[in-house]
Amino acid sequence: MNSIQEHCCGADQLFDLKTAQKQYRKYIKKGPGRVTQKIIDQLSNFSIHQEDVLIDVGGGIGALQWWFLSQNGKNTVGVDASSGYQKIANKHALDLNLSDRSTQLFGDFACLDLSALKGNYVTLDKVICCYPDFKSVLQKAVNTQPEVISLSYPLHGYLASIIRGFGVLFMKILGTSFKPYVHNGKHVQLLLIDLGYQLKYQDILFPWRIQTFVKM
Ligand SMILES: C[S@@+](CC[C@H](N)C(=O)[O-])C[C@H]1O[C@@H](n2cnc3c(N)ncnc32)[C@H](O)[C@@H]1O
Repeated sequence: MNSIQEHCCGADQLFDLKTAQKQYRKYIKKGPGRVTQKIIDQLSNFSIHQEDVLIDVGGGIGALQWWFLSQNGKNTVGVDASSGYQKIANKHALDLNLSDRSTQLFGDFACLDLSALKGNYVTLDKVICCYPDFKSVLQKAVNTQPEVISLSYPLHGYLASIIRGFGVLFMKILGTSFKPYVHNGKHVQLLLIDLGYQLKYQDILFPWRIQTFVKM
C-alpha cells in the first residue's frame, strides 16, 4: 500500500494543471459532469440556507462549490491535493467575484489539521476511490459535523477489480505513485451508519454509485 504522502504527491502529478484546464473548459461548455450532476440533484432535495457551509473534499475545479454558492450557501471550502485544480478553482472564484465566499486548501484531507473546520454539507465526488483508507477520510469528514454527506465512488465487484488492475498498471506506466481503489459499498455504508448517518438518496450511474447520507 502507498504511504499517504506518496499517494498525495501522485494525486498532484496525475491531476495536473493541464488536466484541470481541460476539465474546466468542458465545465464551462457543458456544465457539471453526469456524476457531479447526480450529486447536485440529490442535494437539491435540501433547502440550502444563507448560513450554510459546504466542505468539498477533492473538489477538483469546484463545480459543486459554484453550484452551492449559486443556491445562496454562505461559503465553501475546497480541500484538494492537486495544485493544478486548486489554481483553476481560485481563478474561477476570482473571475466571478466569489473569492470572499470560497476558500481552497491544498493538501491531503486526511492529514491536514482541520479541527476548526465545520460544515453543514460535505461532498466527496469521486474521491474515496483515490484513497487507500476511506475510513480515515470519512471519519475526518464527519468530524466537521455535517448534516449531509454526499459522495460518489465506483461500484465494487469482479469487473471493478479488473478495471482497477488496469488502472494501477496504467499509473505505473505513467510513473506516478497514485493508485485507484475500489471500496466495498456495504463497508462504506456501514461505516457511515456507525458514525451516525443514514442513507437518504442513492443513484447508480455505471460504474459510479452516488449516495447522500443525513445525520440521524
Ligand atoms: C477523480 S478527481 C475528482 C475531482 C472532482 N471531485 C470531480 O468529480 O470532478 C479526484 C480529486 O480528489 C483529489 N484528491 C485525491 N487524493 C486526495 C487527498 N489525499 N486529499 C485531498 N484531495 C485528494 C484529487 O486531487 C482530485 O482533485
